[in-house]
Amino acid sequence: MEGKPWQGRFDQPTDSLVESFTASIHFDQRLYQYDIHGSIAHCQMLAKCKIISEDEAAQIVQGLGEVLREIERGELTFDPSQEDIHMAVEQFLIQKIGEVGGKLHTARSRNDQICLDMRLYLRAVIFQVRALIFELQETLVDLAEKHFDIILPGYTHLQHAQPVLLAHHFMAYYEMFHRDEERLTQCLERTNVMPLGSAALAGTTLPIDMEFTARALGFPQVTRNSLDAVGDRDYLIEFNAACAILMMHISRLSEELILWSTSEFAFIEMSDAFCTGSSIMPQKKNPDVPELMRGKVGRVYGNLTALLTITKALPLAYNRDLQEDKEPIFDTVDTVLATLRVLVRLLPEIRFFREQMATMAEQGYTLATDLADYLVRKGLAFRKAHFVVGQIVQYCSQNQKQLQDCSLDEFKRYHKGIDADIYPFLRLGSAVDRRTSIGGTASSRVRQAIEEARQEIIAKRSVLDV
Ligand code: ARG
Repeated sequence: MEGKPWQGRFDQPTDSLVESFTASIHFDQRLYQYDIHGSIAHCQMLAKCKIISEDEAAQIVQGLGEVLREIERGELTFDPSQEDIHMAVEQFLIQKIGEVGGKLHTARSRNDQICLDMRLYLRAVIFQVRALIFELQETLVDLAEKHFDIILPGYTHLQHAQPVLLAHHFMAYYEMFHRDEERLTQCLERTNVMPLGSAALAGTTLPIDMEFTARALGFPQVTRNSLDAVGDRDYLIEFNAACAILMMHISRLSEELILWSTSEFAFIEMSDAFCTGSSIMPQKKNPDVPELMRGKVGRVYGNLTALLTITKALPLAYNRDLQEDKEPIFDTVDTVLATLRVLVRLLPEIRFFREQMATMAEQGYTLATDLADYLVRKGLAFRKAHFVVGQIVQYCSQNQKQLQDCSLDEFKRYHKGIDADIYPFLRLGSAVDRRTSIGGTASSRVRQAIEEARQEIIAKRSVLDV
C-alpha cells in the first residue's frame, strides 16, 4: 500500500505539476482541528455500530488525539504530496498506529468529510463574528450615552437637512449591525447540519448512525439528501453574503469617520494610535485605518462573486471545483475578524468637537421644516406652509441671516399666523426633542433606544455563551 490512498487503480505516479495543481493542503491545513474532531466522532460511531471493534476505535481515537497535539505543537509538517488535510491526518495517523488507522475512512468519503469540516469551521467562525458584533454594538451604545447631548447636522444628499443627536446617528449603526448579527444567526441554523455519512454522493451500504455523529459533534440536525449534502455550498455563500453586507455597513461608518476628520467638517479627531503620517508631508495625519476598513470591502464582495461563480452550473454532486471555495471563505473570515477587531478599538478613542457640530447643525436652514410644522399646527396645509417657509428662507439667504434672527415683523410679512411662540421652535435642542415619533431623534426616544439596546445585548450574549 505505497503512495496515494487511491493508488490501487493507477499504474503511474502522479505528475508533480498535477500534484501541486490539485493540492489544497497549503490552505486547508487550517481545518485540522475540525477534521480531527470530526474523525473522532466518526470513529466512535463506527464502534458503536459495531463496524469496527471498541479496541480499534480506542487506538484510532488515541492516535488522532496525539496527531492533534503534535500539529498544535508544530511537530508535524504538511507537504503537498499529502494533497489535502484529510489525507494528511490519515497519513499521520497510520504512521503512528499502523494499519488499523486505515479503518477510520470506513463509510465516509472526502466529499462528505470536507463538508463536515467546513460546517464545523464556519459554526465556530460565526460565533466569533457575532461576539465581535456584540462588542461593536456595545461600543456604539457607550458612545451614544457618553456624548448624548451632541447635536450635528443630519444629512440627505450630503447637504444639511435637519439636526439630529450624535447618539441617534450611532444608534442607526447599532440597528444595521443588529440585522447583520441576525443574518449570521439565520445562516448558522442552516450551517449547523451534519453531513457525514452522505459518503461520496449516495450514502453508504454500511449500518452507520448519522444521528449519533451529529449528537457527538453538537449538530441539531442531519442532512436529508446525500447528493445535496456533498454538492452544495450555499451555507458558505450565505455566510459570505452576510459578511458582504456587514462590511458594506462598516464601509459607510468608515467613510463618515474619514469625512468628519477633514478640516472641512472638523467634527472629530482620531487618536494618533489609529492614524499614520506621510513620508513627504510632515503635517499629515491620515485616516488610513478607516480607509482600509472601507477598502477591504472589495475583497469580501470579490470573494462572494468567486463563490457564486465557482458553484454556478455545477452538475450534481461533488466536483473538484468545490475545493476553490476555501480560499475566498478564509479570506473573508480573516478580513471580517480583523476589521471588526480594529473598529471596536478605534471608536472609543475618537474626540468629538461638539461646538463645531452644533454650529454646523444650524447652518443651511436646518430648522426650516420646524417652521413649516409650526404653520401646520396653526392650520395651514403642509404644501402652503412649505411655500411660505421657502420664501422666508430665500429672504434670509439674500440678507445673510438665520431663520431665528428674523424679527416677528419680518416673519409676519410672509404669514400673519406666525407669533412670538415661533422662537422656541427655532432652537436646535427643541427641534431635536420634538421629533418624538417612533424611531425619531428626540432625546426621550434615543434614551429609550439606548436602554433597549443594552437589554438586547445582554440577552443575546447570554444565548451565545450557552
Ligand atoms: N480537498 C477537497 C475539497 O476541498 C476534498 C474533497 C476531495 N474529494 C475528491 N474526490 N477529490 O473539496
